[in-house]
Amino acid sequence: MMSTPYELLGGEPAIRRLAKEFYDAMDELPEAEHIRKMHGQSLVDIKEKLFEYLSGWLGGPALYFDKYNTICLTKPYAIGRAESEQWMLCMEKAMQQLDAEEKIKAGVLEAMRSLAQFMENQKTD
Ligand code: HEM
Repeated sequence: MMSTPYELLGGEPAIRRLAKEFYDAMDELPEAEHIRKMHGQSLVDIKEKLFEYLSGWLGGPALYFDKYNTICLTKPYAIGRAESEQWMLCMEKAMQQLDAEEKIKAGVLEAMRSLAQFMENQKTD
């Protein structure tokens, strides 16, 4: 069987860790304050949802797609370049905490950046 990014990053424990570190970073980084405020006060549920989403997106079990069929993509949040960069900053920080190979992590981050930029729905210049 071919290796998926899910497996290469370390499987379920690693993807859970990634989602946790991501929202911890969003909670802590002053640079991410703006997107942190777009979220509810508690990040507990969304940590689980991001884990479930990323599990399927990275080639592991499709936990999220089994339960829900949308992400914030379909919701009316104002996302411009500044917001997607803040999101990526948190994800880069979270990714640094995983023990996987740097090449794998960089490749996944690149694909995530494309997704985050695809979600931009506001013109910024
Ligand atoms: C590009 C910048 C992004 C911004 C500003 C953003 C913002 C948000 C906000 C405000 C929520 C709602 C949180 C809440 O209900 O408290 C949300 C939900 C969510 N986002 Fe994002 N997001 C971004 C990109 C992404 C990307 C790239 C992914 C996937 C890799 C993603 C996955 C999710 C998931 C799974 C949820 C939970 C949706 C649900 O309630 O079922 N987001 N996002």
